[in-house]
Amino acid sequence: MSKHAEGATEGAQRKISSAYDDPGTAEEISRRTFMANATLVIGGVIGLGLAIPIVGSLIPAGSTAKGRWAPLTQGEFNDLQTATAKPVKLEFTLKSKDSYLPEQASGEYVWGIKVKSADAFMKDRLTAEGTPEFTKPTLPYADGEYDIVNMNFVILSSICPHLGCRPQWNTDVNRFQCPCHGSQFDLDGNHLAGPAPRGMDPLPLREQSGVAEVMWIRYQTSIPDRVIVSYS
Ligand code: FES
Repeated sequence: MSKHAEGATEGAQRKISSAYDDPGTAEEISRRTFMANATLVIGGVIGLGLAIPIVGSLIPAGSTAKGRWAPLTQGEFNDLQTATAKPVKLEFTLKSKDSYLPEQASGEYVWGIKVKSADAFMKDRLTAEGTPEFTKPTLPYADGEYDIVNMNFVILSSICPHLGCRPQWNTDVNRFQCPCHGSQFDLDGNHLAGPAPRGMDPLPLREQSGVAEVMWIRYQTSIPDRVIVSYS
């Protein structure tokens, strides 16, 4: 390269580097700072606008879902009313809705028992469980509190509080027996034997326009307390 060409190249490099080094006037600096901040703010607003619906769509509707009342047939309710010393199996259709799927319907069942006295039932249950929750005749759920004994009936979940199997009523020994690990419960659902950490779980019952309805609640298994997991 000729000396003249080398000189020209060096001059050009000096010019470029001095353009980068030169911060410009105070007005130019403040304009650049303003533009940079404005870009950040606009980008943030756009990002937030996109993020809110995306995050919202990822939260399952079930997390805020309330329970659904399922009607019993008149025949089942009649059976329950005439029951005396053994539980009545009450079947119903459980409708549930997952946020990403259409409404699902599945068959479920609970056990209904007739009690002579709500006070006596609660006293027995308190003695059997010894848990503070049974000092109160109600349990919490999505709509507030429900009566454990309602219209002189108690509805018991069909799910074993140990690990979720289905105890069945055995008339020969007058008790519920769980086929999985041998937990046993008396007619009132009190825990008698086996690894279950608590008695069978009561569920809400109500009467609407002459029709009895129950609400399905799934409680956490393996712990002494009743912690609601879901209503489906
Ligand atoms: S699931 Fe019922 S005893 Fe284990």
